[in-house]
Amino acid sequence: MSLTRRKPLEALLQQASHSALKRTLTAKSLVALGVGAIIGAGLFVRTAAASAEAAGPGVVVSFIIAAIGCAFAGLCYAEFAAMIPIAGSAYTYAYTTMGEFVAWIIGWALVLEYALGAATVAISWSEYLNKLTGGSIPYQWSHSPMQTSATGVSGIVNIPALVIVLLLTLILIKGVQESATVNAIIVAIKVSIVIVFIAVGWHFVSGANQHPFTIPTGTPGHEGYFKHGWPGVLGGASIVFFAFIGFDAVSTAAQETKNPGRDMPKGILGSLALCTILYILFGYVLTGICNWKEFGGAGAEASVAYAVDHYMPGFGWLATLITVAILLGFSSVILVMLLGQSRVFFSMANDGLLPKLFSDIHPRFRTPYKANVVLFFFCGAFAAIAPGSLTGDLTTVGTLFAFVLVCVGVIIMRRLRPDLERPFRTPLVPLVPILGVIVCGGMIVSLDHRSQITALGWMLLGFLVYFLYGKTHSKLAQPVLEEAPAGD
Ligand code: ALA
Repeated sequence: MSLTRRKPLEALLQQASHSALKRTLTAKSLVALGVGAIIGAGLFVRTAAASAEAAGPGVVVSFIIAAIGCAFAGLCYAEFAAMIPIAGSAYTYAYTTMGEFVAWIIGWALVLEYALGAATVAISWSEYLNKLTGGSIPYQWSHSPMQTSATGVSGIVNIPALVIVLLLTLILIKGVQESATVNAIIVAIKVSIVIVFIAVGWHFVSGANQHPFTIPTGTPGHEGYFKHGWPGVLGGASIVFFAFIGFDAVSTAAQETKNPGRDMPKGILGSLALCTILYILFGYVLTGICNWKEFGGAGAEASVAYAVDHYMPGFGWLATLITVAILLGFSSVILVMLLGQSRVFFSMANDGLLPKLFSDIHPRFRTPYKANVVLFFFCGAFAAIAPGSLTGDLTTVGTLFAFVLVCVGVIIMRRLRPDLERPFRTPLVPLVPILGVIVCGGMIVSLDHRSQITALGWMLLGFLVYFLYGKTHSKLAQPVLEEAPAGD
């Protein structure tokens, strides 16, 4: 049956060994790539939002729950990324385990994760740029037409968000090594500022802000099941989950890694571990210096700078420094998201599921430049006209969905091909993948209905595209190529 046809693993590995992409990345650059994708709008924007909307000071535990879900999924990603070092990440893994249709579904869900993730962060970037420039960019030129200001001005197009997507696309076209260097510098700045905030802010933490630890039942505006008490902490986990998105993007660079069997697990799990520690400390300090209730009101925007300005007297300079670091930090997130998306497109086009232009490599830069250009238009359109809340929630659903399928894939692959060499093995299979499915699935359930339904709509559109294009153009549908699988 064509929907379940699977790509032979041997064909994949042959494809990897004849890759046209340059192999330049090491374990260190992979961790930098991961942290580059991970620390961004999730930490600097959604920590405060999660505590105000659902978790209160319990957001610290929300981080732990989200991290546990990611760790289970990360262990599964690491097994696949080391075993099948191909650019397409979860999409590719599904192609060899669950067949073409599920692979397509994952590829389609990854567009939500990477392309809309990049758009979401570009929108936050625009907000912070506006803050740094003292609100000098007119509202209508820095907001979506779906947004209206408190004074009644409607947005037209978000130009700064569009411009940052364009700049980063140009860097990516130039080459992944250059991108990795730019990324490494930004990551160093970003991590330093998070550490400085934690170290300085620690002295301003007030125990009174952290009691009670969760939002009490009956608090106005917190009537929903996942909006107060311990269920609220789970609701908070699905909000801060966005902050962890990106560690899996490391796996999309597998084909450009010098020694993927050894370095992929280090890159994925190393970046995840580092960020988890920073996040827990950051969440503790932020909700310790400023009461969570304020993040629902005056401190709802640029919350970290707000907390510093109001509760850390004498540290105004830190608020400005944080804003600059956030702008740089967001840029690296967008960069890695765009990189990940273009590599997923590259793999899907190689398999015939998308038009060939997505896998064309630039003769000199050796990057999939046409994919980058198309992606710019797609991602740029969302960055320019959609509100961040919509793109952000869709990113979360798409990512969690891909995580669940990767966890399931590990179990299937162990049964189908126990003989394969696995440079890294997920521990305690099937327990770890099953727990991954439960925790990530739980976070999908605790998201709001609007995001769940919109994501479903996106997936249905994907079905249509598959049946109208992918199914018939798939290389596996061509009998000649099936006998002699093609390289890149
Ligand atoms: N984890 C990334 C961020 O928080 C997507 O911006």
